[in-house]
Amino acid sequence: MVSIRYLGRKGILTAFLRSISTLPEDQRPAAGKNANILKTKLEKAIAQARSFMAANSMNQNMGIDVTLPGRRRGYGSTHPVTRVLDEICGIFMRLGFDIVEGPEVETDYYNFEALNIPKYHPARDMQDTFYVSDNIVLRTHTSPSQPRTMEKTDPPVRIVSAGKVFRCDSDLTHTPMFHQIEGLMVDENISFGDLKGVLTTFVHQFFDEHTALRFRPSYFPFTEPSAEVDIRCVMCKGTGCRVCSKTGWLEVLGSGMVHPAVFENVGYDTGKYTGFAFGVGIERMAMLKYGIDDIRKYFENDMRFLGQF
Ligand code: PHE
Repeated sequence: MVSIRYLGRKGILTAFLRSISTLPEDQRPAAGKNANILKTKLEKAIAQARSFMAANSMNQNMGIDVTLPGRRRGYGSTHPVTRVLDEICGIFMRLGFDIVEGPEVETDYYNFEALNIPKYHPARDMQDTFYVSDNIVLRTHTSPSQPRTMEKTDPPVRIVSAGKVFRCDSDLTHTPMFHQIEGLMVDENISFGDLKGVLTTFVHQFFDEHTALRFRPSYFPFTEPSAEVDIRCVMCKGTGCRVCSKTGWLEVLGSGMVHPAVFENVGYDTGKYTGFAFGVGIERMAMLKYGIDDIRKYFENDMRFLGQF
């Protein structure tokens, strides 16, 4: 210790002070004066060091109070849309479906023509579709993955395809970009019963096994017959509320048996094969699962909203 080494009973400075009396008389006053100045400086420095160490004794002089609770490192979370997308893909993968991907910038042929959507169909209107050029569009649904897959593979086909789709639309329940999952199953002897079985399993796994659902007749140019699937309102359990517009039911997906014209376009034998297809809106499924009331929240990048998932 510095204080003992220099100022202790046997310290260097103490010994020097004692030895002053042995110096020649004319040197004693200066030696004594300087030694005392040195002693005062040393004592002051030691006192300062002592008080600094006392104040910081908890942190080994590093200027950190280790007794404070630690600051949590911020970490990311999965976007609710990605989360639901992964979850739905997982359900279909476990049912034996493969995952395929298709382009977001699509040709008029795959987005409309191959799917039996005629030239005069309202969906083709500039009001609903983003045109890149005369024959190129931003895909308005994931259904182009149906003919794209069938052109490349012979039955049996069992795929789902997820991704972004685009429609010229924007309000409380519509954004110009949203996500869909397309499903397609084709083989010999595929019936509407298979469609019902697969989609019922899906709804029960995604929501819960007590969720009631109904298949309501509908129309799509690329399926016949077509059905939309409604589930019992997850908010009011069917008694009628704002979310389900007092009907007790919520529409969750479009589906149907693949139209023979679509099979013909891809060269499938319509006498031999049948199949079903469906399309699910991801944002909507996530809204229903997590009780989100405004679709725009997904894309505002508010960390307080996104951090909850
Ligand atoms: N593509 C349709 C839509 O957007 C949904 C659908 C997919 C319907 C497959 C039937 C079969 O909205």
